[in-house]
Amino acid sequence: MSNTAKPAAASAVEMTEIVLPSHANALGTVFGGQVAAWIDIAAGVAAMRHARRVAVTASMDDLHYMAPVHVGEVVILKAHVNRAFGTSMEVGVRVEAENPLTGQRRHTATAYLTFVALAADGQRVPVPPLTPESDDEQRRYQQAEQRRVWRLERRRMRDSEQGG
Ligand SMILES: CC(C)(COP(=O)(O)OP(=O)(O)OC[C@H]1O[C@@H](n2cnc3c(N)ncnc32)[C@H](O)[C@@H]1OP(=O)(O)O)[C@@H](O)C(=O)NCCC(=O)NCCS
Repeated sequence: MSNTAKPAAASAVEMTEIVLPSHANALGTVFGGQVAAWIDIAAGVAAMRHARRVAVTASMDDLHYMAPVHVGEVVILKAHVNRAFGTSMEVGVRVEAENPLTGQRRHTATAYLTFVALAADGQRVPVPPLTPESDDEQRRYQQAEQRRVWRLERRRMRDSEQGG
């Protein structure tokens, strides 16, 4: 499989869902876990588009729910691979809620996930480098490096607390 660098835009994902009563709590707003599942799916598709491999979620960090989303509203998830490392990729997901009657949108959540690419035998495989092109892609690419440092430091601390 080719490991030629790929542009960030080539793996971008936009996914649309509508909030049904089965997705909601007694207040008629969507469960956080449901949004997390949609985030995982959108991010996973972006990661697999970039790597052209099966990609598994290694971690999800910094998932902040900024505003509730109501039954009947439309949820738009925009996922971008921010940076590719060795066998892992950071994917950022921005979640917006849209009132389908007015078209008005608001930003309701953001998350960063790490996916690892696997071969058919389950072994980790290197992923192609990512080339950021637009200003936004450049910014995400730069910031992803610092987040990776923090993330791997937290992982190291967790492992040492657990005696790993
Ligand atoms: C993710 C997984 C493949 C990593 O395997 P591992 O043996 O721990 O791998 P390593 O420690 O050698 O790390 C491999 C890569 O993943 C990254 N990584 C591993 N754990 C990570 C974490 N918690 N957060 C961020 N990155 C992580 C490493 O930095 C490394 O990246 P690089 O190759 O780009 O430098 C393995 O832990 C796994 O299979 N987990 C279950 C995945 C799954 O089933 N997810 C669905 C939800 S349960």
